[in-house]
Amino acid sequence: MSPSTETAARCPFGHGAEAPAGHHGYEPFQMKDPFPAYAELRAEQPVMFDERIGYYVVSRYDDIKAVFEDWETFSSENAQAPVRERGPAAKKIMEEGGFTAYSGLSARRPPEHTRIRSVVQKAFTPRRYKALEPFIRQNVVDLVEQMLARPERTGDLVKDLAYDVPTITILTLIGADVSQVDQFKRWSDSRAAMTWGDLSDDEQVPHAHNLVEYWQECLRLVRVAHEEGGDNLTADLVRAQNEGAEISDHEIASVLYSLLFAGHETTTTLIANSLRVLLARPEQWAMLVEEPKKIPGAIDEVLRYAGSIVGWRRKALKDTEVGGVKIEEGGQLLLLMGSANREEGKFENGEDIDISRPNAREHLSFGFGIHYCLGNMLAKLQAKIALEEVARLAPNLKLQDPENIAFRENLSFRVPETVPVSWEA
Ligand code: HEM
Repeated sequence: MSPSTETAARCPFGHGAEAPAGHHGYEPFQMKDPFPAYAELRAEQPVMFDERIGYYVVSRYDDIKAVFEDWETFSSENAQAPVRERGPAAKKIMEEGGFTAYSGLSARRPPEHTRIRSVVQKAFTPRRYKALEPFIRQNVVDLVEQMLARPERTGDLVKDLAYDVPTITILTLIGADVSQVDQFKRWSDSRAAMTWGDLSDDEQVPHAHNLVEYWQECLRLVRVAHEEGGDNLTADLVRAQNEGAEISDHEIASVLYSLLFAGHETTTTLIANSLRVLLARPEQWAMLVEEPKKIPGAIDEVLRYAGSIVGWRRKALKDTEVGGVKIEEGGQLLLLMGSANREEGKFENGEDIDISRPNAREHLSFGFGIHYCLGNMLAKLQAKIALEEVARLAPNLKLQDPENIAFRENLSFRVPETVPVSWEA
């Protein structure tokens, strides 16, 4: 049975599926403006098998939420799998470098996922990261003031602010060396490119070296926590292990491997997107400057309208169906939360941003169900502080050339490369 009701080409991945003629404008790796294609998918083919990537692309809110909720049918084990198979050279580098990292949580299945998540959740408490609030605020203030001191009166809110803040926060939380921000960013970029990118075998090689270094650093941090203890999350996890919690050193290192990526990449994007979309709407920005208490609501609206992650993956563990379309056991799904978040029936005028939207928090940008993002509160805390301080210190920033902002090509993360701004004396 065909997954789509339409047309032609046979699936090269052997799903026996038929691909639609055209893909309603959907280009899996293009992130600049995927929203018109999402709207067309929702209207025309809400569950579309895309033979170019071998995934069923799911675009409606209720379907996506139902898949997230039903973890017994839809496993997250493919969430961190490379979209493009690793080439022989990259595989060799990773094998020889002792790369055995596995997803900390997001690609694990119960009961293993339940066990590890409960240990991590006990350590990753609001107390641990709220203690960082004054440090995060000072960091933001310093960075904004440094930018404003520039005589040319132009800046890039990605490079000047969004890039550093979450990275310094997560490194501090984990007990890693904060002077290594660029190093961790480089490793994270490699992780994103190697997992969600569309790289040739040759292009993978430098990234494979980076992944080896990144993983070795995670293992080292666990060794240091065993030897020296410390007031950080890694030491908390090691202490929990010593006190009988069921978590191995390899699992702790895998959790660090996840957090050191999840903990900043997406938050950098959230801060950048918040400033990008709000500065582009001077009347809404002015409301925030006037009434900073509206900032938390605005952040949820940005997560809905311009989420950091627009697509996330699942795998069917048995024959099933989604939105009336049959999915075979082993079928892979790409859930377009970026589409669900703009569905008209769910969010009135969903293609517009409204910082007072009453149901903005119902967005799916943090996923849903057993894998719901563990760091959502920390992400929102950092974005709140960033917006509060930019609104206070630089209320008159002007966004430059928003039409020409480039977005990184990949399957899942919608990342603006720059947010150029200028200001008057
Ligand atoms: C705007 C920022 C962020 C976004 C959009 C985001 C999004 C997501 C998404 C979509 C998932 C998968 C949910 C699912 O499979 O149902 C996830 C899981 C996760 N996130 Fe985040 N995240 C953000 C920030 C953070 C931060 C700051 C941290 C940690 C410091 C973090 C840690 C995690 C972890 C550990 C998981 C795996 C949870 C599990 O599988 O049980 N995230 N996040």
